[in-house]
Amino acid sequence: MKLSDSEKSRLKATYGEWAIVTGASSGIGLELATQLAEAKFNLVLTARNEERLLEIARKLKTKSIQIKPVAADLSVPEGVKQLIQSTKGLTIGLLINNAGFGTSGPFGNTSLQNEVNMLRVNCEAVLSLTHYFTQQFKKQQRGGIVFLSSLVAFQGVPYAANYAATKAYIQSLAEALAVELTPFHIDVLAASPGPVDSGFGNRANMIMKNALAPAKIGVPILSALGKQKNVVPGLLSKVLLYSLRTVPRFVKTKILEQVMRGFTRH
Ligand SMILES: NC(=O)c1ccc[n+]([C@@H]2O[C@H](COP(=O)([O-])OP(=O)(O)OC[C@H]3O[C@@H](n4cnc5c(N)ncnc54)[C@H](OP(=O)(O)O)[C@@H]3O)[C@@H](O)[C@H]2O)c1
Repeated sequence: MKLSDSEKSRLKATYGEWAIVTGASSGIGLELATQLAEAKFNLVLTARNEERLLEIARKLKTKSIQIKPVAADLSVPEGVKQLIQSTKGLTIGLLINNAGFGTSGPFGNTSLQNEVNMLRVNCEAVLSLTHYFTQQFKKQQRGGIVFLSSLVAFQGVPYAANYAATKAYIQSLAEALAVELTPFHIDVLAASPGPVDSGFGNRANMIMKNALAPAKIGVPILSALGKQKNVVPGLLSKVLLYSLRTVPRFVKTKILEQVMRGFTRH
């Protein structure tokens, strides 16, 4: 999927010159970075894997755009500071809060350190970056913030309890800011995909069924920014979310328990 020329122009005119994409070394983040490069955004790309970032920067670089790869670990406050520091002097107009990972399995069986790290990457780093760039965007009186939420954000999910809880935090933060920041001309979007075929499944120890390719995710997300407050990419995910809309949360949690049993390797 590719952005239309009119969408590229709209995004660049509304949020240009620079965009930050966290978690740009793989999956959804890489796809979003690729689409934004084609829309002629200068890009700050971040992830831990420096070699991979340099390779991606070489591939995406054209005569008309600059790419700044920043290798940083967002599970530690120094990593977040380093990323913010690297953007000094750049007019950032778009923040894509994408970096994140999942865990799965019976609660208590997984490593506490890994669960805490997930909370830091999926929530704390997102809070810190959003807090900092909201201040910049308010001064500029324009900006865009995309949050990678998930279909799991809308109810508790047994066997991925902490991961789903991190995404519930993201969904709630995004929904509130989408309203609060409107008077400052800052557009906020929560993107809530279902399963996507990326590096996510391996790291989370999940078997991703009916997964969409990242190439099917980037364009619907970027096209929704500035027009909607929430986007659910993919037909199957839309059907799933909307058909369960009137179902009580505790029933949804029981349904998700069955779904997650099929997704976990435990
Ligand atoms: N895949 C799905 O089914 C799915 C569904 C809904 C929502 N999501 C969300 O979408 C986002 C992107 O996931 P994905 O599917 O594209 O997974 P992915 O292919 O594993 O990509 C995750 C990205 O996050 C980066 N990252 C992970 N830990 C990091 C850390 N400590 N510091 C800095 N960067 C870190 C990774 O780079 P390094 O490893 O190089 O650091 C990578 O670039 C996540 O927030 C995920 O929760 C995914």
